[in-house]
Amino acid sequence: MSNQKLKVGIVGGTGYTGAELLRLLATHLSVEIVAVTSRGEAGLPVADMFPSLRGYVDVSFTDPETVDLTICDVVFFATPHGVAMGQAPALLAANTKVIDLAADFRLQDTAVFEEWYNMPHSCPDLLEEAVYGIPELNRADIKAANVVGNPGCYPTTVLLGLAPLLEQGLIDFSAPIIADAKSGVSGAGRKALITTLYSEASDNMKAYGLSGHRHHPEIDAQLKQLAESDLQFIFVPHLVPMIRGMLSTLYVKLTANAKNVDLQALYEQHYAKEYFVDVLSKGQLPETRSVRGSNHLRIALQQQASDYLTIVVVQDNLVKGAAGQAVQNMNVMFGFEEHTGLDVVPLMP
Ligand SMILES: NC(=O)c1ccc[n+]([C@@H]2O[C@H](COP(=O)([O-])OP(=O)(O)OC[C@H]3O[C@@H](n4cnc5c(N)ncnc54)[C@H](OP(=O)(O)O)[C@@H]3O)[C@@H](O)[C@H]2O)c1
Repeated sequence: MSNQKLKVGIVGGTGYTGAELLRLLATHLSVEIVAVTSRGEAGLPVADMFPSLRGYVDVSFTDPETVDLTICDVVFFATPHGVAMGQAPALLAANTKVIDLAADFRLQDTAVFEEWYNMPHSCPDLLEEAVYGIPELNRADIKAANVVGNPGCYPTTVLLGLAPLLEQGLIDFSAPIIADAKSGVSGAGRKALITTLYSEASDNMKAYGLSGHRHHPEIDAQLKQLAESDLQFIFVPHLVPMIRGMLSTLYVKLTANAKNVDLQALYEQHYAKEYFVDVLSKGQLPETRSVRGSNHLRIALQQQASDYLTIVVVQDNLVKGAAGQAVQNMNVMFGFEEHTGLDVVPLMP
C-alpha cells in the first residue's frame, strides 16, 4: 500500500459489531473511517451515541440509502443477513472490497442458505468467489479475495478448536463431534429483544437452538471441508449471563492412530506462528475474561478417557468472533501486518 490511508465504510454502525469495528479501526494507523451508516440516526455524531469513541471517531452517521460507499476501498457490513448481498455487486464493480459480518457469503450451497435464512440468495455468482474468513485456515485465499464472508462466532471456536485434529485425520467419525457452547448476551446484537432484557438474561442460563441453529449448517459444511469426509455434528448453544465472551467445549472420538501422537505438542506446533491463537500449557484451562476485548482465542486440551479428547476454546464473541476477525481479514486483504489495530491487551477483571 502507498502512504495513503485505506478508506473504510461501515454499514450498520449503531449495532454491537459496528461499534466494535469502530473501536478497533479508530486506532488503526493505516485506515480512515469515511462512512458509518444508520437508517435512524443519520446526522448524529457517532461519538454522541457511543461516548467511548469521543476523541477517536469524529464522523457522523449517514443514511445507507444515500451514502456513496463506492469511494471506499473496503466496506464492512455489520448488518443482518440479506443486506450485504444486495449491495456487494455494485461495490465490487467499483473496486470496493466487501467484508460481511452476516451470513450472506458464508455458505457455498445456496439451497442451504435459503433454507436457513428464508430468503433467496441474490448473487450466487459472487458466492463462488467469496472466501470464508478465518485467516488461520484460509489466509492465502483471503489475501486474494474481494468478498469475505466473516464467520459466525460459534463456528470460529469450533473450527479453530478442531483444525489440527482434522488436518491430521485424527478424529474417528464413527462418533459425532459434539460442541457444547456458551455465549454472552451481546451475541444477540443490540436490537431490543425480550430474551436479552436484563431481567430475562441476567442470573439465568439456558440452552437454545437445539432444533436448529443457523451456525449448525455453517460449522457442518466447514468441518466436512476440513475433514474431506462426511461426519456427524451435534451443537448445543447456551446463553449465559455475561455481556461478552464465548466458551465452547468440544468432544471428539480419536482414531487409533491418535494414541501415537502427542496431541498437546501437535496443537502447540500447529498454532506456533499464529499471533491470535494461544494453546495453553497442559493442565491449564481458559477463561472468557482472559480474552475480553481482544482478538485472542485460547485453547486447552484434556484427555479424560483414552479414546476421547476434550477441547476447551474461549474467545470474545464480538472480537475474534466478529469485528476483530473482520479487521484481521482486512489486514490480510490489504497487506498490512495482521495484528495492526488489534494489539489490545484483554481487559481484566
Ligand atoms: N453480536 C455478535 O456477537 C456477532 C458475532 C458474529 C457475527 N455477528 C453478525 O454480525 C451482524 C451484526 O450483528 P450485531 O450484533 O452488530 O447486530 P445489531 O447490534 O443488531 O446491529 C445491526 C446493525 O445493522 C443495521 N441495520 C439493520 N438492518 C439494516 C438494513 N436493512 N440496512 C442497513 N443497515 C441495517 C442497524 O443499524 P440502523 O438500525 O441504525 O440502521 C445496526 O447498526 C449480524 O449479521 C450478526 O449475525 C454478530
